[in-house]
Amino acid sequence: MDTVVLGGGITGVTAAVHCKEAGQDVVLLEKGRIVEGVTGKTTAKVTSLHSLIYHQLLEKHGRERTLGYAEANSAAVEEIADRVESHDIDCDFGRLPAYTYVTDENERSRVEREVSVAQSLGLPATFVEDPPFPGRTAGAVRFDEQVHFHPRKYLLDLAEEIPGEGSHVFENTEATGIEDGSPCEVETPHGTVTADTVLVATHFPIEDPAAYFARQFPHRSYILGVRLAEEPPEGMFYREAQSYFSVRPYPGAEGTLTLVGGQSHKTGQGGSTTERYRNLERQAREHFDVESVEYRWSTQDFSTADEIPYVGQLGPGYENVYGATGYGGWGMTNGTAAGMLLAQFARGDPNRLWAHTFDPERIDPGAAGKKLLTENANVGKEFTRDWAEALLGTADETVPPGEGEVVRRDGKPLAVARDEEGDLHVRSAVCTHMGCLVHWNDGERSWDCPCHGSRFSMDGEVLDGPAVEDLPSRWE
Ligand SMILES: Cc1cc2nc3c(=O)[nH]c(=O)nc-3n(C[C@H](O)[C@H](O)[C@H](O)COP(=O)(O)OP(=O)(O)OC[C@H]3O[C@@H](n4cnc5c(N)ncnc54)[C@H](O)[C@@H]3O)c2cc1C
Ligand code: FES
Repeated sequence: MDTVVLGGGITGVTAAVHCKEAGQDVVLLEKGRIVEGVTGKTTAKVTSLHSLIYHQLLEKHGRERTLGYAEANSAAVEEIADRVESHDIDCDFGRLPAYTYVTDENERSRVEREVSVAQSLGLPATFVEDPPFPGRTAGAVRFDEQVHFHPRKYLLDLAEEIPGEGSHVFENTEATGIEDGSPCEVETPHGTVTADTVLVATHFPIEDPAAYFARQFPHRSYILGVRLAEEPPEGMFYREAQSYFSVRPYPGAEGTLTLVGGQSHKTGQGGSTTERYRNLERQAREHFDVESVEYRWSTQDFSTADEIPYVGQLGPGYENVYGATGYGGWGMTNGTAAGMLLAQFARGDPNRLWAHTFDPERIDPGAAGKKLLTENANVGKEFTRDWAEALLGTADETVPPGEGEVVRRDGKPLAVARDEEGDLHVRSAVCTHMGCLVHWNDGERSWDCPCHGSRFSMDGEVLDGPAVEDLPSRWE
């Protein structure tokens, strides 16, 4: 086998298709079903306009890396558009302008600076005084000819290209270990797969030789699919603020819905997630005449300390294992570019600018230092506070149906949840990643870790990494 790809999200499917098209024998291993991870629950704006990132990148990283980021993400927009056209993929594809707007006059200069930096990078940016969005704004950046689509329809169609001529997609096949070498070995419950190259595209890498857990930070956010009693605004919108607000139309078979997103917070922190859905609906109604809320979902993504994803050799000393992670909420393009770059690594011919830009081993404390300190101090605080509360507190086990609580039994913290049928599910509350205590997520009915974002089902099964082991069914 030439290449084995772990993970069937946008990164893994894109990488596998590129490997196959380069004439390689490739196997894609997916723990569950493909495109049901983060990629299956996104907002799916496909744009190189990422909030107000470019002037920040320029200040932190200088021109070369900023140009690399702009180039890779612009190429990803056109990669998706070209494939949709050339493969005639039915995926609710459309072109629209994308806007990042601000509402505070004091922020206007940041928007103007963003336009000027983006233009200098060759991006399709203009300043817009009054974007076509309800409510008062204080100016916006507009990128023309951006894209929206249905990522599952697009990627499921693309993935059909992979099997055949020595290549395969194996679903329900979890990679449980990676051995670098010539060849490399990937362990699965069904046996070992050997390949010249391993591409790790599991959102958070299943092995962490480069301390990714301490260099990127998880945020969950929420999406509603709403039906409006009016025409949705013409464009894809993103409000730059501490808590963003995102809007895009979704023209599907049931007529046009509007996807609104926001209410972002660090995973496992910030209280009731049900409340987040309520707040988001309130925000939607403040902006639009909402007829009905048809769908709701949430998911999470990692942001690196210096805003640029990590794509390259998985860690120091690794020869033939490459990984990609940390898309900062912009993985439709970052993930597509990462998939293309991973496939180039597998062929031994990476784009030099992209490889330099996304190098996971880049050392630039100036760009990342303050963020690293703040975020890792926050982890320490969560760890200490939660253990103190669990071990000294007096919580009891009278948990109502559909709810969960961390309680102590014999001084040990247990994650106790009751399902709708009244059955109790008891697991250790100690996250299997590094020992923080999990918190109950009432919106998703999961146990979420406030330290590095691992999530577990009510039954303790890993839903999101960095953890790779389930919560034990009782204290062990
Ligand atoms: C609320 C929200 C909205 C977003 N909206 C946008 C947007 O509008 N535009 C945009 O560009 N980006 C957006 N993003 C970001 C984007 O969705 C993600 O960055 C991207 O989908 C991540 O893709 P991925 O391939 O890394 O991960 P995933 O899609 O999660 O794929 C990883 C796969 O690996 C599998 N896996 C895990 N462990 C193993 C294992 N051990 N063995 C085998 N397989 C394994 C998983 O099951 C999963 O299928 C949004 C993110 C959030 C949170
Ligand atoms: S995710 Fe790191 S301790 Fe839980």
